[in-house]
Amino acid sequence: MPQFPRAGFMTRPTPLERLNRLSDHLKIDLWIKRDDLAGVTFGGNKTRQLDYYFGQALAEGADTILITGAVQSNFTRLAAAFAAKLGKKAFVQLESRVTCPTGNYLESGNVMLSQILGAEVVHFPVGNDEDGADQALYERAEALRAEGAKPYVIPLGKTDHPIAALGYQDAAREIMAEDDGFDLVVTGTGSGMTHTGLIAGFAGTSTHVIGSCVRRKAALQQPRIRTMLRAFQTMTGEALPLTPDAVDIWDGGLWPAYGSMGPKAKAAMQLMARYEGLILDPVYTAKSFSAVPELVKEGVIPQGARVCYVHTGGLGAFFAYQEQIMAMITKAQAAEEDAATAEAAKAEAAKAKAAKKEAAKAKKDG
Ligand SMILES: Cc1ncc(COP(=O)(O)O)c(C=O)c1O
Repeated sequence: MPQFPRAGFMTRPTPLERLNRLSDHLKIDLWIKRDDLAGVTFGGNKTRQLDYYFGQALAEGADTILITGAVQSNFTRLAAAFAAKLGKKAFVQLESRVTCPTGNYLESGNVMLSQILGAEVVHFPVGNDEDGADQALYERAEALRAEGAKPYVIPLGKTDHPIAALGYQDAAREIMAEDDGFDLVVTGTGSGMTHTGLIAGFAGTSTHVIGSCVRRKAALQQPRIRTMLRAFQTMTGEALPLTPDAVDIWDGGLWPAYGSMGPKAKAAMQLMARYEGLILDPVYTAKSFSAVPELVKEGVIPQGARVCYVHTGGLGAFFAYQEQIMAMITKAQAAEEDAATAEAAKAEAAKAKAAKKEAAKAKKDG
């Protein structure tokens, strides 16, 4: 048996595509790794991670998968999907991390998908207790074991066995096999598995990885990723050639909080939609992608840089945010109308001024 077995969810590489219109607009050479197209049920980065978790679960002969995440978690939705595909039971625990949720947030999107996929869905009322949420899963697993089931727990908190990060070490190799000339790779960083795996995969190359925060601020995410990288090296026995600045984190798009979009995330979502016809989700990718235009604006990403943005999916939650997204669209349309009205008034004033000047000239000329 391989040391880190996989379930075989990644049957082919995801597309790597150039974003032509955004490249022109931002004056960089911008590409996108379409992990939103990975696997089943609206795809996403969690496919690569679950490939390893389910590989281990299958190796252990598990019949029930237990997983925890936010109410609109893509991780839990994809685990429910892969459990269905393999004929396993899924136990999905949803943590109440978002304050003042709407009805759509609580019932639509990934919650609805997990239900149609046949998962048992329960709620964990504490929002920010990562260890407590994992502990509740282990307790449930114990109860299931006592009933004769064979449970496998997928934890979300810190672990000394970050097998999920292996999925993104693979992704880095997949990108390099197609194009090894990127200056920068930009990804979202939440649990940190994607970010850790990409750093490990690009270590020793000239490609630098930036993690754009989706869950907690850079000051908290920095030590988290460093700890995970140490655990990854111990787990794999690989000593990675890491530079001192290997853990590079930007949290400018995180505001106001996990699961809620601020102006930078909203602008990023509209930019991607209007220039490339691609949809970013409100919780993860709108925030993570906002790093690209913002860091170009700040001069951190220089003109002409070759940048690969990793689209990590999240699309299962899109319609659960209908109210926020519609309010954003309405506001943007009103601003466009105001700008068009102001432009028309300016043109009208210029026309009147020119006519007045012409009339004065005609009068003077007799
Ligand atoms: C769509 C999406 N993008 C990015 C992330 C962050 O990835 P990670 O948890 O590996 O840091 C998540 C995490 O749930 C996600 O669902």
